[in-house]
Amino acid sequence: MATVAQPQRQDEANPLVEGLERLPVHPTTLVIFGATGDLAKRKLLPAIYNLAHEGALPERFNLIGVSRGDIGDDGFQELARESISQFSRRPADEKVLAALVENMRYVPGSFDEDQVYEKLGEAAKELDEQAGIAFNRLFYLSTAPSFFPVIAGKLGERGLHETEGAEVRMIVEKPFGTDLDSARSLNRELLSVFDERQIYRIDHYLGKETVQNMLVLRFANGIFEPLWNRSYVDSVQITAAEDIGIGTRAGYYDKSGALRDLVQNHMLQLLMLLAMEPPVSFDADAVRDEKVKILHAIKAPAIEEVPEMAVRAQYGPGASGGEQVPGYLDEEGVPDGSRTETFAALRLKVDNWRWAGVPFYLRTGKRLARKITEIAVTLKPVPHLAFQQRGSLGVQPNQLILSVQPNEGVSLSLVAKIPGARLSVRPVNMEFLYGTSFLSQSPEAYERLILDTMRGDATLFARNDEVERAWTICDPILEAWSRMDEPLPTYPAGSAGPEEANALIEDGHVWRPL
Ligand code: BG6
Repeated sequence: MATVAQPQRQDEANPLVEGLERLPVHPTTLVIFGATGDLAKRKLLPAIYNLAHEGALPERFNLIGVSRGDIGDDGFQELARESISQFSRRPADEKVLAALVENMRYVPGSFDEDQVYEKLGEAAKELDEQAGIAFNRLFYLSTAPSFFPVIAGKLGERGLHETEGAEVRMIVEKPFGTDLDSARSLNRELLSVFDERQIYRIDHYLGKETVQNMLVLRFANGIFEPLWNRSYVDSVQITAAEDIGIGTRAGYYDKSGALRDLVQNHMLQLLMLLAMEPPVSFDADAVRDEKVKILHAIKAPAIEEVPEMAVRAQYGPGASGGEQVPGYLDEEGVPDGSRTETFAALRLKVDNWRWAGVPFYLRTGKRLARKITEIAVTLKPVPHLAFQQRGSLGVQPNQLILSVQPNEGVSLSLVAKIPGARLSVRPVNMEFLYGTSFLSQSPEAYERLILDTMRGDATLFARNDEVERAWTICDPILEAWSRMDEPLPTYPAGSAGPEEANALIEDGHVWRPL
């Protein structure tokens, strides 16, 4: 099998592409465990296609899929074609696609069978020999979490965790454990085979452009940082609302719930990036050292404190997108009487010099009024408002909104004078929208993250201590919730969430409308 020649870049004539860096990447053989699964079809294969389309893949690149069904190389190539055609963010270009799938192979079998690793080792070796180079090897664990230690262990037994003259790395999908104990034991098992520097724990929120832009906004602009502290910031609200229900994922979701599914990982990542001190450099460890300090500054609640700082709820029937939709308990596969939360809201304090006393409100849920992920930083009000004239409208303190999705951008609310003879004022917005400033579609999070692993850059991946500390904060909340036996609060599907969440908000704050 030949390795791909770099496809012609489609955007060569486009001046807007100038400045977008394309760093050389060492030749790589990517192995996807769970290559016929949902994540591979919807996200991974399309992401790889888009990297190929942009000429960002290494010049020599192979992909080996590992999965149960015995579909052969041809069957896998066909599946890749179909998934890419269906899910790629841009229409597939036949030339690029053909060159990409030509370098795809398939190894059938279940992840605990020795012969899978034997075949995999042979296939990877053959690719090295054919090309006369040592390819870096990148193992992507896109499987049920119970297989993570199994796969790592088997790779180790076969000696596939290292290769002469090249790097071996491993990407681990979420969920990384279901509590502190299981995360620790998973870390122990992975680290008994691989070094920490070889392990890339995915949190796809870190691959989103707007999430990365938080660091740039904070540390490349002089205007915000002087205000970014307890003297000027009144409160912070982080929302990750979804309008969808759990779809066909009851098997996973019912054991997980909103806190494990989104708060422990994605939302705490957003909080860390927002609150961290400036790192000395943008090296992976310099950034992650600062991030994890924020988690250490958040005190894990005592069990009895949980009702004061956390609210959970479950969606009931309601209307979403103009259609009647069932409640969580009537979703396919949800056990009768399930008490799994589909909504979670928390009030956290970051007890350090910069943030002491500033409440951080976090809120996430399924089947809420709309899909929106945003961070709202509300500044303290001005000490005295001299504009009391009639006609002034709803003057609010300045708010900086970092909008992660769907309308990626940043907006700053200001108070402005309403045109006319009177000195009446009202809030207005100053907006930066990615779509209008850059005229290009943002890459999907997985594109950036897969590329970073191929380049060996772990900045946008969670380190072992980060994951464990995040569980330390979440564990008592889960424990307290599991001990409560009063009826679970509910909210109608399509609404802004349960009434009970309002009780978390203190000192006259309110949740931002959804
Ligand atoms: C995943 C969760 O990690 O993130 C899903 O398991 C959730 O339940 C998804 O829907 C949300 O991601 P995004 O990128 O759509 O905000």
